[in-house]
Amino acid sequence: MKLLIIGGSVFLGRAIAEEALRRGHEVTTFNRGVSGADVPGVEAVRGDREAAADLARLADGRRWDAVVDVCGFTPSIVLESVRALSGHSPHYTFISSVSAIAGWPGTAGVDESSPLWPCPPDGDAGFGDYGVLKAGCERAVEQHFEGTALVVQPGLILGPHENVGRLPWWLTRIARGGRVLAPGDPDLPIQLIDARDIAAFTLDQVARGAGGRFLTGGVPGRATFGSLLEECVAATGSGAELVWVDDSFLVERGAEEWTELPLWTTAATGRTLWATSSARAVAAGLTCRPLAETVRDTWDWLKGVPEERRSFGNRQARSGMDPDKEARILAEWEEEVRLR
Ligand SMILES: NC(=O)c1ccc[n+]([C@@H]2O[C@H](COP(=O)([O-])OP(=O)(O)OC[C@H]3O[C@@H](n4cnc5c(N)ncnc54)[C@H](OP(=O)(O)O)[C@@H]3O)[C@@H](O)[C@H]2O)c1
Repeated sequence: MKLLIIGGSVFLGRAIAEEALRRGHEVTTFNRGVSGADVPGVEAVRGDREAAADLARLADGRRWDAVVDVCGFTPSIVLESVRALSGHSPHYTFISSVSAIAGWPGTAGVDESSPLWPCPPDGDAGFGDYGVLKAGCERAVEQHFEGTALVVQPGLILGPHENVGRLPWWLTRIARGGRVLAPGDPDLPIQLIDARDIAAFTLDQVARGAGGRFLTGGVPGRATFGSLLEECVAATGSGAELVWVDDSFLVERGAEEWTELPLWTTAATGRTLWATSSARAVAAGLTCRPLAETVRDTWDWLKGVPEERRSFGNRQARSGMDPDKEARILAEWEEEVRLR
């Protein structure tokens, strides 16, 4: 299969490129060459998806069996890409997000029938935040690839090459050892997925020419926040001691959910953290590796990256808590526990 990946050099797109090559596909990647090195073995075409001339040059005289668009964040920009490529491929996959679903992660469970945020297919950045814009991007793709648009809505993604800095931050912190502030309830179930599992699933669906929307949030009931951080202790071999601190205590002391303590939110108290239904994807063949494997492989990759070059954050937010703040909260928590 001849595959065009828009993006393909950082994390999920990289995993898709690697898996596609492993399967013997011919892979073209299209990116500006600024965020990362292309996977060896791909045909790398340099260009900016926001430049009409670059898209025209990419498409000129070319045909692919499928396009996988990993880096669409603004509907009007995605619309230009689908317009430029619509005569050049019969199938278009868009990597969206569970955040495109209105209200996620609210109290109700979500699935593929849950309504998306309202956002037009030609909306620009002013229409809303990340999730709202992803919903508009989905509409842009569906408008031009009716019936052959595959929309993948991942939940929280982990794995080697993660550039958001969630698991890399926890691994780096836990590798440093000592008493580590662990947020909330260690028994809280957590639903996560490895980028490599999304890659395999996406390519399976592409090979079938499948259309439609699939939530890929991992399999529920396989991990807890406690087991995730214990796996980090085991993988790094640091002997770090996890000190579990109550949600309310952390909130009162200004610990920021989601960013300062990655993957943590009090919104899920008593439920599953980052829950989505992946039932449709599982029925279509999604399989998810054990979390321990994801943590081990991510550490194997990360320990080869010097700390000063590790990325703890993305276009939306920085990840991680300042060590002084962590030490202060831990000291106050010890006092609280002593007085109880
Ligand atoms: N991380 C999560 O937990 C999570 C959850 C749900 C959904 N998602 C979605 O999953 C996707 C993850 O993407 P990724 O970063 O891992 O993908 P990736 O394809 O590995 O990396 C992003 C690619 O986009 C390229 N790019 C960025 N701007 C470009 C432009 N203007 N023109 C051409 N290429 C451009 C980058 O290269 P250059 O910068 O060099 O051009 C890079 O190759 C995103 O769509 C995200 O919304 C992520």
